[in-house]
Amino acid sequence: MAMNAETKDRIIDRALKIRSNAYAPYSHYKVGASLLTKSGEIFDGVNVENAGYSTTICAERNAVFQAVAHGDTDFVAIAVASDNGGSPCGSCRQVLSEFGADIEVITLNSDGNVVLETTVRELLPDAFGPQHLP
Ligand code: THU
Repeated sequence: MAMNAETKDRIIDRALKIRSNAYAPYSHYKVGASLLTKSGEIFDGVNVENAGYSTTICAERNAVFQAVAHGDTDFVAIAVASDNGGSPCGSCRQVLSEFGADIEVITLNSDGNVVLETTVRELLPDAFGPQHLP
């Protein structure tokens, strides 16, 4: 399923909206993510921080895990909304790459402007993946 302009706007709107539910009392850096799958479903995620800082989960991985939990693992694109349109962290890049190098990644700032439009392949070239395992 290719992403048309309307679908792109939908995941962008959802990422911007869901961002308000982020639980980020320590960094105050709220992130919302909306992940489009080939079936046309959209799975949302937010970052959820924890007093034990390392147990924090990013919005992107939260969205990916929601999709996987629903048995939907064919990803088309992910929209990521934050204060300044920061790009996915290394751990999120690795997790996204597990499901495909062609996944489109769109980041947005809090004004709703697109800051970055790229792919997982560009964000994580030469990624370690299932093909490296026997
Ligand atoms: N964060 C994300 O949710 N996604 C990223 O890719 C970058 C970082 C979150 C984690 C933490 O709650 C906060 O942003 C500051 O690092």
